[in-house]
Amino acid sequence: MSGIIIGKDREHRSISNAGLFFRRWLANPLQMGSIIPSSPTFCRLIAERVERDPHEVVVELGAGTGVVSRALLAAGIPADKLLLVEIVPDMAEHLRRMLPGVRVVCGDAFELPKVLAEAGNPPVGDVVCGIPLVMLPAEQQRRIVSAMLEASPRRGFLHLSYCITSPLPKRRLGLTGGRLAYTWRNFPPGGVWRYAPARS
Ligand SMILES: C[S@@+](CC[C@H](N)C(=O)[O-])C[C@H]1O[C@@H](n2cnc3c(N)ncnc32)[C@H](O)[C@@H]1O
Repeated sequence: MSGIIIGKDREHRSISNAGLFFRRWLANPLQMGSIIPSSPTFCRLIAERVERDPHEVVVELGAGTGVVSRALLAAGIPADKLLLVEIVPDMAEHLRRMLPGVRVVCGDAFELPKVLAEAGNPPVGDVVCGIPLVMLPAEQQRRIVSAMLEASPRRGFLHLSYCITSPLPKRRLGLTGGRLAYTWRNFPPGGVWRYAPARS
């Protein structure tokens, strides 16, 4: 059992490219939101919360160097059912190299409807958002939240965040939801949140 975990952690290190991540944080700390990639424990917690039917794709926004993506694959999501969106070209290139068979779009998550249209509008099971939404102005939060809800109206979306309280203003954005999991074994400690449209 521990051998399996050590093996997975080694795989995690090989994909995480902490140097690239840190350089991007120096270049644009608000866009990165963290100085290092998510830990193996945090990635597993996220992957365990993802929901999808077999024909549905999982969309990950802000895939970074791919540590969460790798955990999603390890949790059983087929490579051709994973769609990654990452705004930094060097990171998108790294993702393509490290995760063969996974569709990687180098682009802005705000363009999610266009990204999905170009992918043939596949049915979406879950959206996993790693973008630091708490750093965004209210209007941008509203835009990205409505794009994610449009993509996955039934389940809503998962969000990884270091906030203790909700990283999104639920009432203002018409959302319901809360924290599903939390770990101290990440720097900074992190939580997995699920949000869905509030029923009126
Ligand atoms: C906190 S990092 C998370 C990276 C990775 N998911 C992890 O957990 O280690 C946030 C990522 O979101 C990306 N990002 C920020 N704004 C974005 C946007 N508008 N569209 C796509 N990616 C974005 C950043 O480049 C960065 O890779």
